[in-house]
Amino acid sequence: MTKGNRKFNEGLLLESKEKRLDFFNNYTVSHPKLEKALIELKKSIYSPENFNVIMIVGPSGVGKSRLFEQTLISVSKDMAEEMEQDRSIIPITGIELPNPDLGKFNWKDFYYRVLSSLKEPLIDCKIDVHKNVGNKNKKKVDTQKAETAPELRRSIEKAFLNRKTKALLIDEAQHFFDVGTAVKMQRQFNSIKSLSNMANTKIVLFGTYELNAVINLDGQLSRRVHEIHFPRYDYSKAEEIKMFKNMLYSFQRALPIKEEPNLVKLHEYIYENSIGCAGIVKNWLQRCLSEAIDNNEESITIKNLERNAMNTKKLLTLAKEANSGELDFIESKEDREELKALLGTKEIKTTKQTRKGTATPGKRKPERDAVG
Ligand SMILES: Nc1ncnc2c1ncn2[C@@H]1O[C@H](COP(=O)(O)OP(=O)(O)OP(=O)(O)O)[C@@H](O)[C@H]1O
Ligand SMILES: [Mg+2]
Repeated sequence: MTKGNRKFNEGLLLESKEKRLDFFNNYTVSHPKLEKALIELKKSIYSPENFNVIMIVGPSGVGKSRLFEQTLISVSKDMAEEMEQDRSIIPITGIELPNPDLGKFNWKDFYYRVLSSLKEPLIDCKIDVHKNVGNKNKKKVDTQKAETAPELRRSIEKAFLNRKTKALLIDEAQHFFDVGTAVKMQRQFNSIKSLSNMANTKIVLFGTYELNAVINLDGQLSRRVHEIHFPRYDYSKAEEIKMFKNMLYSFQRALPIKEEPNLVKLHEYIYENSIGCAGIVKNWLQRCLSEAIDNNEESITIKNLERNAMNTKKLLTLAKEANSGELDFIESKEDREELKALLGTKEIKTTKQTRKGTATPGKRKPERDAVG
């Protein structure tokens, strides 16, 4: 253990289990994949270009919800000065989509949630959010009143315009599209797009690779989305192993336990049991820390890690899902060949690397940024 290098004061070790767990739960490692996705997303939110719908896509447990929180905080910080001058500004807001009942998406509930999010104080920002949302002179918007969906939607459009809201973040956005047919999915997408156009607010959808399937349904949809990939670490790349080890080093220093555990040394084992996802590592370490404190252990041992690891079947499912989702972000040689055949073009030398993929042939790819 490197003394003096830990992320907490020694006094924390004498505190209650709850406080120690809270400290670790609240600790965020700003590792390169998270940072890159955040930079790319903020660039896209601030950019005046016409991609009003942005998608953040990544495997389960990579840290999408953490990125969602970091984006709310970071944009609010960026805008702090402007907000100080004009206290009516709410630059960014976010909601989590619930799982729809019986495959039917409830727009009214969605609008209520968005309006309510505008009434909640933003982290680090002193805004009188109980002032009327969206209309500075008239009555408050009461989200509990029985307005119709179109009325609620107009309230949101007005609120976003008046509050100069740059972005609405939506976590678990794949639930937008749990509606059955491709035509219905397209309609859902068009409603989101139209809300963002009317309100002049970027809508950011955070979700798993299921979101990809939706936009790949249709060339027009895919052209209208700016997609940002938030991938896990790739163990076949030396530089990514290094990044993963650095991330583990940050986590090990933030664990409030007497002896700093040497997670870096166990990087291959930890990679295999987290499929290279920061969020899976974090949740696993939370379980280990809780157990170590209960058992009065001085450090986090390999035995503890083993007892609290996810089971192999679950990991295998996650790894397969991640693997097939990632293929959509890799230039496929077959797709390129099919495109050439369709267009009658010849071989052109480019620097792009290609790999065999499973992307559906004949489907146009969206605007994509492979982060990482
Ligand atoms: N960089 C990080 N530093 C600290 N904690 C993190 C980091 N990334 C993720 N976590 C934590 O790990 C847990 C899992 O991550 P998160 O929920 O963000 O993953 P996700 O990609 O949203 O997963 P899902 O697809 O299941 O919703 C959460 O408790 C989250 O706060
Ligand atoms: Mg999540």
